[in-house]
Amino acid sequence: MKDLLRTGDLSRADVELLLGTAADFAHRPLSANTALAGRTVAIYMTKPSTRTRLASETAVAHLGGTPIFIRGDELQLGRGETLADTARIISGYASAMLIRTFAQSDVDELGANSTIPIINGLTDDDHPTQLLADWVTIREQFGEDISGRKFTYVGDGNNMAHAWLTMGAIMGAHVVVATPGGDYAPSVSAVEAAQKIGAQTGATIEILTDPEAAAKDASVLYTDVWMSMGDPESERAAKLKALAPFEVTPQLMSLTTSDSIFMHCLPAHRGEEVAAEVIDGERSVIWREAYHRRTTIQAILYHLIRGELEGR
Ligand code: CP
Ligand code: NVA
Repeated sequence: MKDLLRTGDLSRADVELLLGTAADFAHRPLSANTALAGRTVAIYMTKPSTRTRLASETAVAHLGGTPIFIRGDELQLGRGETLADTARIISGYASAMLIRTFAQSDVDELGANSTIPIINGLTDDDHPTQLLADWVTIREQFGEDISGRKFTYVGDGNNMAHAWLTMGAIMGAHVVVATPGGDYAPSVSAVEAAQKIGAQTGATIEILTDPEAAAKDASVLYTDVWMSMGDPESERAAKLKALAPFEVTPQLMSLTTSDSIFMHCLPAHRGEEVAAEVIDGERSVIWREAYHRRTTIQAILYHLIRGELEGR
């Protein structure tokens, strides 16, 4: 496997390897501090980022390399140079590239035309690096035996909902996504892809429109912003109205198991998708999740550059 273009690229064995290495980096951050010595990693972003950018730059530094951060408007891409040409050029300078942008097809095209590993740092469709941090956090909380546990996402059927379903499918989990449906449902292709993986792993995949049924007896209640980067402002009022019943309130949390946790990829909007009492409450594991963004990106870089991921 050369690239990490989508969550569904990962095999279960890849995920296990990455989670193990990330857990190791959490305890010994500099244990592979010559892995990227004398090498560079390009980080190219056409959308804002706090965690993914800082986690990537610090991950490269912890591996002994040098990150090169490039904003969307800084490349000749904006003036008509092709993605394919850009991919060939960056392959000549850097050892890997992480990209955050809108279209998944742009990330796929970079992967197809580069000789270095390309890592998806979020697209409109997916967020694979986030899900690895989430599953390190889930393992920390519940250990490896997840039988009988239910993993629920409520809110917008966006990139995070897709990634949540896919990773849950890879892990053989009982995974639930509840949205208002219609325009806010997860994409049919993402659901079908997760079902296909789930058929091999024994995962149970449920797509619901009732937040309370989704929350009932869940071990994890996960949510994400209602307005994602790139969502049209003209749709804000209608979207917030449709999503209002999906806010993670103390009442919704009360339906979950007695040992449940609240998760959120961040950034969060208290009073929209989650109540302050929940995200700032004792069941919230958001800071562990955010911390593991670095350890997991460090693990992805480490294993991709060494050619140690097999892919699906
Ligand atoms: N969770 C996440 O990807 O955060 P950023 O948008 O700040 O990178
Ligand atoms: N769905 C959000 C995730 C941010 C990490 C977005 O795409 O803006």
